[in-house]
Amino acid sequence: MLPEPPPKPLTLSERLANIRQASNTVLPAAVGDAALREFPFRAADFERVRKLIYDKAGISLSPAKQDMVYSRLARRLRATGMKSFGQYLDHLEFSRGAVEWEGFVNALTTNLTSFFREPHHFPLLAQHLRVVAGKRKPINIWCCAASTGEEPYSIAMTVADAFPNGGPQISVVCSDLDTSVLATAEKGVYTLDRVDKIPPEQLKRYFSKSAGISGDVYTVKPELRQMLSFRRLNLLDAVWSVRAPLDVIFCRNVMIYFDKPTQYRILARFAPMLSPDGLLFAGHSESFLHAADLFHSLGKTVYALAAKRG
Ligand SMILES: C[S@@+](CC[C@H](N)C(=O)[O-])C[C@H]1O[C@@H](n2cnc3c(N)ncnc32)[C@H](O)[C@@H]1O
Repeated sequence: MLPEPPPKPLTLSERLANIRQASNTVLPAAVGDAALREFPFRAADFERVRKLIYDKAGISLSPAKQDMVYSRLARRLRATGMKSFGQYLDHLEFSRGAVEWEGFVNALTTNLTSFFREPHHFPLLAQHLRVVAGKRKPINIWCCAASTGEEPYSIAMTVADAFPNGGPQISVVCSDLDTSVLATAEKGVYTLDRVDKIPPEQLKRYFSKSAGISGDVYTVKPELRQMLSFRRLNLLDAVWSVRAPLDVIFCRNVMIYFDKPTQYRILARFAPMLSPDGLLFAGHSESFLHAADLFHSLGKTVYALAAKRG
């Protein structure tokens, strides 16, 4: 008879299940998980994090994000050699201009994006650009939550396709609060799993393929790349380094992290920057009904200046 294989080490959730079973009580998951954490993370620590990220970036974290915050910031504690959340948060709060602010903010942003996300926006963008191209040059577009670049490069491909014989001068300013995603955007190099939704014809036209360490990589071609410029910009900052008038603002899937008063303050600053016939593109779950005095909906989460109404 073959010897029995050694038992596999238990996973964290299996260990928790055993504790719950043995104690014959229903332990709330968070309590059980907390007991096994490397750094103690008290409710007061979470509240401090919530306040700091709200003040710094406008991001409102719901109580349900406690585990996410723990795991993302535990990495920062390890990276900075801090022994506890208290020490880490004291360092941020009490060392003026602490370099770690960047790590803290970068850790807490959510950067989900993809090429041609919410695809219905791109034909509308092309149509709008063809209309305004006859009226003025250059055309200015701002993509204000560019993340790792898939959105601004989708905009650039749409522009290039809209004017195949060379159209007006178009500039796309790409900004984000998070410096690490912005660095990825600036490189413009993507793995196959990132580009596989781009139609093959467009992929071939706008990317060059080369062999990377773990598979092929796709690099944005210079003719597309030269349309874009990148900068770090916090939408909460008092001054934005973006030149108006703008023909288009892409502000998609970032307002959802802000509360309504913060959204309103940002929209009130967008409005005077937009050309009278300019368009504001929002994310699929974002609605600006509370700012109806500033913007009105054209449907499909596209907005125009309210002043144009009637
Ligand atoms: C979910 S991603 C959206 C990316 C892209 N716009 C899209 O729709 O696919 C949200 C982005 O907003 C950025 N962000 C969060 N707070 C910000 C702020 N206060 N100012 C500028 N960007 C911010 C994050 O760093 C993140 O890259």
